[in-house]
Amino acid sequence: MLTDSLGRTINYLRISVTDRCNLRCVYCMPPQGIPLTSHDAIMRYEEIVEVVRVAAEQGITDIRLTGGEPLARLGITELVHMIAAVPGIRDISMTTNGLLLERFAGELKEAGLKRVNISLDTLNPERFARITRGGSFEQVWRGILAAESAGLYPIKLNTVVMRGVNDDELLNLAKLTVEHEWHIRFIEMMPVNNQESWDEGFPSPQHIFVSLSEIKQRLESLNLKPVQGKSGSGPAREYQADGAKGKIGFISPISEHFCGECNRLRLTADGSLRPCLLSDLEIPVLPALRRGEPILPLLQEAVKLKPEGHHLSQNQRTFTRCMIQIGG
Ligand code: GTP
Ligand code: 5AD
Ligand code: SF4
Repeated sequence: MLTDSLGRTINYLRISVTDRCNLRCVYCMPPQGIPLTSHDAIMRYEEIVEVVRVAAEQGITDIRLTGGEPLARLGITELVHMIAAVPGIRDISMTTNGLLLERFAGELKEAGLKRVNISLDTLNPERFARITRGGSFEQVWRGILAAESAGLYPIKLNTVVMRGVNDDELLNLAKLTVEHEWHIRFIEMMPVNNQESWDEGFPSPQHIFVSLSEIKQRLESLNLKPVQGKSGSGPAREYQADGAKGKIGFISPISEHFCGECNRLRLTADGSLRPCLLSDLEIPVLPALRRGEPILPLLQEAVKLKPEGHHLSQNQRTFTRCMIQIGG
């Protein structure tokens, strides 16, 4: 078992399989994009699986594939298949923008993927295109339905709440849970996008943040009740509206952070272990892997170095990476 210096058990590994994406969401990356990592510097599937194998021997049971956009990496279904065959792995999930789910949902399920979390910040196609800098809402919606038909349960939708951008839609998004057995999670925006100002027409970054308490206020009329028992091992606190099929989750990394219960490590696409999303500290494993050296000591070091928590406020700070390079 991997236990850190504060007694937290680490059983969840988030693997970013690529830093490329077929969308360019405003909260995730600057308009000019990010320098692309060369193919050579990206972990090969066998290398990722080797990290998973060593981690699983130490008690990692849950794997989440992230990006960039994980479905944009060629042969991703094969990686799911390889990870599913590693003894000890119990849950394989993916966080995706949903664009390619219509095409891949069925084969991902067959390969052993259990569930997907899909970004959905608005129900308005024009707004969707603005937030994602060109994406098609309809295509993502079809992707969500395809994931449901393929049995990738539970389907969780991620909404990053942004003042003056989508905060007038919270009630409508929440009401999707009445008809659908989906989870909608409202997320406080983290200042990890490394940009001074957003694209023209967006409010300034300092004004975009909306806190959990304000998000809850906007949903007051739904009379939400806390759900007993959690559906995942992630940071969402779950609620349900009267008579609804689905659930509403709140993820509040800034105003009420959940670092005390953190159970995770991250692996970047270029092969570094990152003990905390909101700390730049990283431990490279790819060079050791390529030299044929054992990586267990590096895994243990990453756990040992896991910070107690973050001290970020809602204000912008510059990180060495932006969200697209970490995978959330
Ligand atoms: P499950 O509970 O396993 O379904 O996943 P999840 O909610 O942890 O994963 P997802 O990728 O859907 O992330 C939802 C939001 O939570 C994103 O905004 C992530 O950046 C954020 N998040 C996930 N893990 C952490 C974490 O350890 N720390 C912080 N600060 N944010 C996190
Ligand atoms: N703050 C909070 N959540 C973010 N995500 C991406 N960027 C941010 C940010 N700056 C979320 C997206 C995606 C998940 C991986 O992380 O909603 O679903
Ligand atoms: Fe791509 Fe996801 Fe980042 Fe949007 S949030 S740019 S979909 S990686």
